[in-house]
Amino acid sequence: MKNIKIYEPDDKMVTLIKDNYSVLQALGSFGINLGFGDKTVSETCRLNGVDTYTFLAVVNFTINNSAKFEDDDQISVPTLLRYLKASHTYYLDFQLPFIQRELKESINDSDPLGKLIMKIYDEYSQEIRRHMKYEEKTLFPYVEALLDGNQTSNYNIETFSKHHEQTDHKLRELKLMIIKYLPSDSLRNNQLTATLYDIFNNEEWLRHHADVEDHIFTPAIKRLERLNVQSDVTKNISSMVFNGAQESGEALSDREKDVIVGVVQGLQNKEIADRLNISVHTVITHRRNIARKLQIHSPAGLTIYAIVNGLVDISSVKL
Ligand SMILES: [Fe+2]
Ligand SMILES: [Fe+2]
Repeated sequence: MKNIKIYEPDDKMVTLIKDNYSVLQALGSFGINLGFGDKTVSETCRLNGVDTYTFLAVVNFTINNSAKFEDDDQISVPTLLRYLKASHTYYLDFQLPFIQRELKESINDSDPLGKLIMKIYDEYSQEIRRHMKYEEKTLFPYVEALLDGNQTSNYNIETFSKHHEQTDHKLRELKLMIIKYLPSDSLRNNQLTATLYDIFNNEEWLRHHADVEDHIFTPAIKRLERLNVQSDVTKNISSMVFNGAQESGEALSDREKDVIVGVVQGLQNKEIADRLNISVHTVITHRRNIARKLQIHSPAGLTIYAIVNGLVDISSVKL
């Protein structure tokens, strides 16, 4: 069974890479270049403006493929977003053309079989490009808006999650075609073997990329959505409370505020009347005016108003 090792902020960056050279591909996408000497993971991350916790979450997940990140509130969404965007650029602008060049050099494309292999690769390139462009045009701007506190009503992470699929089946097919059916002379055999090795590597990279999106990014965005909804509710309550008074254009009188305090403390109309030395009829009139001015009718609503506007101390209110 594979040993599971979880790397920590104080581990040396060079040790992490020596133990797991596959992490090299992720470094560039985090904006971390080689040449980090004996610096620790946290020192290297700090120098490059990368959130250490998020870096280690991705790296440990990639290495061990076992971690769960549901409700992990320490993940930095901006760091993860930058990482995913840079990963797309790395794959589309560097890896895809790189493999294409390698394939062209290692197969005879004037041969019908060679032509078909190139065709499968072109189709695969288009498919993965479509997949990533969709995320760049729809998902990432949605997340950026969420980070700014704006949640659009016609899209959410659940919609993305439902339709997010692995995109490596064409690559698998291509690999099999080459291994099983493509005749190769001894001259091209080494080149073709090296290309195959890179295709295997690409396949693994893509799987990790999709796993990070599914198991780290998606839960982090779900959490962000929940937080936005909560803050919207708070904003709505406050605006209800404040706008209520502003809409009518009439401020509450001191006597009306005294009546609210009585209501919030659970007093009956008669008790409020006795305390303020006014008639029960006047208390009822005050209550009617308060409801009209604030558009708040229930004792619970008046309690919220009283707390938010400092008429009563929250500790004195029985909730
Ligand atoms: Fe992606
Ligand atoms: Fe994806």
